[in-house]
Amino acid sequence: MDLIDGILSRRTTNGPFRPEPVSREHQHLLMRVAASAPSHFNSQPWRFVLIENPDTIAQVAEISGQSMQQLIEQGVFFERYRRYFRFSETEMDQRRDGIYIDHLPGPLRPFTRQVFSDAGLNLMRRLGVPARLGEDNRKLVAGSPLLLAVLLDRAEYRPGELSAFYSVFGMGGAVVNIWNVVGSLGMGIQFVSTPMEIPEQWQRLRDLLRVPATLELMAVYRLGYLPGTDRRPTIDWSSRHRKRLSQYVFRETCATPERDAADMVQADPVG
Ligand SMILES: Cc1cc2nc3c(=O)[nH]c(=O)nc-3n(C[C@H](O)[C@H](O)[C@H](O)COP(=O)(O)O)c2cc1C
Repeated sequence: MDLIDGILSRRTTNGPFRPEPVSREHQHLLMRVAASAPSHFNSQPWRFVLIENPDTIAQVAEISGQSMQQLIEQGVFFERYRRYFRFSETEMDQRRDGIYIDHLPGPLRPFTRQVFSDAGLNLMRRLGVPARLGEDNRKLVAGSPLLLAVLLDRAEYRPGELSAFYSVFGMGGAVVNIWNVVGSLGMGIQFVSTPMEIPEQWQRLRDLLRVPATLELMAVYRLGYLPGTDRRPTIDWSSRHRKRLSQYVFRETCATPERDAADMVQADPVG
């Protein structure tokens, strides 16, 4: 039951962590949890770098913040990901996917819906929002006591071959195992993903972490213990909704969506 509760309550942490280090015991537990994931032929193609050195963390934070500023300033972020943004509870209730932008800086709030349009982007630039978001992001990463780089063994990760898909699949399982248990250790986790969007910035991370030619850097995460309070970043979202069964499950063939529980109760009041 604990496992099921853990999975159902798993969340991404958008806010800051407490500054104290993550204990070695917890770090190693997370690594063992990751390594317990399934992999093709038990190949265990994942590799991890645990990063606690404040200088390294500061440099990753700088790269992440700069990447965030660049992505927002150039409109790349919204162009790429506009289709996932929801702007009202009603919209979120209907679609039940995507992220609901429910926290914006005061001056932007009246323009919530326009924020992600071209006009909104100009307004954001005039208000200095890209720099502010970049700085917010830098601080979030810099204030994280632990970064985790996830890599794949390139002997297994051979893009274009099925082996690459299997490796990514296994790596996903390993990372999700970590994601599922951090909550029970009082910890949180979030992708440090902005550098990944900009090839030159991603290369800077590869260099910083001295990634050898035999490994591929796949993802970077920030982790730490959660503070009691819920201080939210400048622009923030919630993404707690999940699709109804009928929106993502089929019965027997793809022609028949699974019926939602409420439908079943109506059809069979006794059940
Ligand atoms: C492949 C992948 C990429 C993601 N990228 C980011 C990201 O760049 N930044 C972030 O904060 N969360 C990222 N997430 C987390 C999702 O936004 C999050 O899982 C989703 O909104 C559901 O919210 P929850 O994890 O709190 O349930 C990513 C998740 C996955 C699986």
